[in-house]
Amino acid sequence: MEVVIVPGAEAGGELIAEAMAQLLRRKPDALLGVATGSTPLPIYEALAAKVDAGAVDVSRARIAQLDEYVGLPTDHPESYRSVLRREVLEPLGLDMAAFMGPDGAAADVQAACTAYDKALAEAGGVDLQLLGIGTDGHIGFNEPCSSLASRTRIKTLTEQTRVDNARFFEGDIAQVPHHVITQGIGTILEARHLVLLATGEGKADAVAATVEGPVAAVCPASALQLHPHATVVVDEAAASKLK
Ligand code: F6R
Repeated sequence: MEVVIVPGAEAGGELIAEAMAQLLRRKPDALLGVATGSTPLPIYEALAAKVDAGAVDVSRARIAQLDEYVGLPTDHPESYRSVLRREVLEPLGLDMAAFMGPDGAAADVQAACTAYDKALAEAGGVDLQLLGIGTDGHIGFNEPCSSLASRTRIKTLTEQTRVDNARFFEGDIAQVPHHVITQGIGTILEARHLVLLATGEGKADAVAATVEGPVAAVCPASALQLHPHATVVVDEAAASKLK
């Protein structure tokens, strides 16, 4: 695992966007795994700026979703499919033909999860997977004590994560779904390159456990230690509890 300490969120976004641009220059139809939440926004902004400046062509890029709420209609503004359309695909000039994700509104959710793992493999696997990290060390929505070998499946959100995400639902925790589909930790580890961005002091404990703690299900992100090509980009605040 390599750890890169950057001065702030903007520098982290630029660094990772440049890594994505380099990948796309090498492999124009790369499959990019993307996360939602606040942390990756500077990455998406920096990548869109490169596209606008003509520094990279993303027209053949493919985008794969990491996780999705269960029970929200697909076109709900806070479904992760809608969020990614707004924050990633549209700014990059891509349409939904470039997108793949699990169907959170499926009648048979487990079948949708299994189908998504199969679709990812058939697409050749994820080339670069972006990850954020929860204050409790989750990646995707693999909450603490998720199996490190897990596949894409339905999970129940912890109360803490529902509280953290209420800001996207007018601050009303009652509107935050209880269940999600998430790529499993085993699924995530199959990506060729994992890039985790963590910014702010609130992530410092989780980052220390990820980088310096034992590999343990109690901190799902510690599974990155098992990956041959994992990059953890942290700002100084998120790095503040590293030894
Ligand atoms: C969302 C996801 C989550 C977030 C994590 C941090 O797709 O994968 O693991 O990355 O909850 O969220 P923020 O970035 O909002 O602090």
